[in-house]
Amino acid sequence: MLRPALIEVRNLSFRYFGSRSTVLENVNLRIAHGEIVLIVGHSGSGKSTLLRAINGLIPHQHNGDYSGDVTVDGLSVPRTEMSKLSLRVGYIFQNPENQIFMFSVERDIGFGLENLGLPREEIRRRVDWAMDVLKIRDLALKAPHELSDGQKQRVAIAGVIAMRPKILILDEPTSLLDPFTARELVRLVLKIREDLGITVLIVEHRLDLVAKICDRMIVIDKGKVVLGGTARDVLSKLDVSNYGVTVPSIVKLAKELEVTGKRLPLDPEELHSALVSNAPL
Ligand SMILES: Nc1ncnc2c1ncn2[C@@H]1O[C@H](COP(=O)(O)OP(=O)(O)O)[C@@H](O)[C@H]1O
Ligand SMILES: [Mg+2]
Repeated sequence: MLRPALIEVRNLSFRYFGSRSTVLENVNLRIAHGEIVLIVGHSGSGKSTLLRAINGLIPHQHNGDYSGDVTVDGLSVPRTEMSKLSLRVGYIFQNPENQIFMFSVERDIGFGLENLGLPREEIRRRVDWAMDVLKIRDLALKAPHELSDGQKQRVAIAGVIAMRPKILILDEPTSLLDPFTARELVRLVLKIREDLGITVLIVEHRLDLVAKICDRMIVIDKGKVVLGGTARDVLSKLDVSNYGVTVPSIVKLAKELEVTGKRLPLDPEELHSALVSNAPL
């Protein structure tokens, strides 16, 4: 029997109120516990809308024509209150400014927990734990304006994982970050999945950062899922640059050198091994 999916999207179509066109058209998707799923597609293709349909902002805060169903951890999203859904789904915005607003980092991380009415000691324990996971203990007493964008993004993630959600959703989390900080952030996301067994959905254009860490990649075009599979499969099958994605230079080079064979190389080490094993004696 098929394992029950943690997230299940069934025949989902959605059009924002007052808008002429349908944004999502008959989307079907199953995501299992512990998967890291990368969602890619042109700007405006409906990626954020799909994420909102999973965290409940659609249909609870955005009105529109909604048909189909989404279930998260066995709960029907349209029929479950936001307060209940937000315990299961943590959402990281593109711009952490939208998420950080308290006087200090630790107050910020504890904010959601305070709203849950947890005892002080439990809040303290979880805030410390989340700061350790994100390696930001030294920032505990800093004010948000003293932080770099990368640090803000870590604080936002700490605030979300302190709530112990089953699902972490990141919508273009590296768009404001320099390549080094972006890489660090992606490493942390991988570590969080490994340590906590959390399920991760991430929208990210920079495939050089995420292709290797995701279990599955889904391509969305004009509100439809057009392709899904492992990053290697998807990248060998189609030219994802047609879908608004920056193909890693290593993948382009591997294709040019025709070493794509059984296993498309995704980083320089893999390309090197593929070249060595292909080389004539
Ligand atoms: N709140 C909204 N109200 C009306 N239209 C919206 C809203 N948010 C997004 N859209 C429209 O829905 C389409 C998909 O947007 P979005 O899901 O944000 O795409 P992506 O995240 O892939 O860039 C776009 O045409 C966008 O203009
Ligand atoms: Mg978006």
